[in-house]
Amino acid sequence: MNAPASKRIAAAVLQRYGETITVPDDLRGGDALAVMNERSVCRRYRPEPLSSELFRVLCATALASPTKSDAQQASIVRVTQPGDRAAIHAMLPDSPWIAGAPEFLVFCGDGSRFRRLFERRGRAFTNEHLDAFFNATVDGAIVLSTFVQAAGLAGLGTCPISELRNHAQAVSQLLGLPDWVVPIAGLTLGWPEAMEPFSPRFALTATVHEGRYDATRMDEELDAYDERRIRDRPYRRQRQVERFGSAERYGWTEDKARQYSDPQRADFGAFVRGKRFRLD
Ligand SMILES: Cc1cc2nc3c(=O)[nH]c(=O)nc-3n(C[C@H](O)[C@H](O)[C@H](O)COP(=O)(O)O)c2cc1C
Repeated sequence: MNAPASKRIAAAVLQRYGETITVPDDLRGGDALAVMNERSVCRRYRPEPLSSELFRVLCATALASPTKSDAQQASIVRVTQPGDRAAIHAMLPDSPWIAGAPEFLVFCGDGSRFRRLFERRGRAFTNEHLDAFFNATVDGAIVLSTFVQAAGLAGLGTCPISELRNHAQAVSQLLGLPDWVVPIAGLTLGWPEAMEPFSPRFALTATVHEGRYDATRMDEELDAYDERRIRDRPYRRQRQVERFGSAERYGWTEDKARQYSDPQRADFGAFVRGKRFRLD
């Protein structure tokens, strides 16, 4: 952690993307950029609480994010009742970090205030279609992302929990989410006991397109990424060996093809429609 920011960023980029970059020594915001590049999720927390002042600072920072049409369609629910946390953990028993984290938050796309203002102004809301749902979801997701980064800069660990949406209706009832408010993801938050190992990403040549979208090298990029995953962050176990067998070289593409071989959350559209969003 004592290396200059430029060296830390270059080292993190090499590890994450397999790419050598030159980072200027006088980069403004270098320390913050180093922390953001070194980030990984945290699934083990120390028991100490964080202060409510710090929590407010993080919320304020996250909600200062850009917001579509200035419509501010994001909400954060802090789960404060131990019984509610226990109920959420009971829905997701394979994620013990939900019970172990000092704080558990739920980030929501929130179109309720926007609908309410139309009612109060006596105007019809004529935009009840997929884009309205998308706008609220994007706003909530941006706030979640900024919260994660702000928490990281403050030395805290986080882990988003979208598994929560496996139980969207039950979570919604538990937390009293009204119409037009949908959970995007939970977030565990606290002082880290240990961070997860650094997770490599696709090379920037696969995800950053210059001038035109270019898919000509997609297969090579997928192969190269599999190679780096197997070399730098091998999977500890293979999914569904009884169904798919044991692969000699088990990389990211095989893992994801197994993970998504069964339908997941096919009922989420019905839940969202039940919240009165229209998805057409
Ligand atoms: C929207 C979203 C939902 C996620 N849901 C879960 C989850 O339900 N459980 C979990 O353990 N991790 C979850 N994660 C964490 C990812 O597994 C993690 O970000 C990914 O493996 C890459 O690791 P890294 O963030 O350390 O680079 C989620 C991340 C995001 C952005």
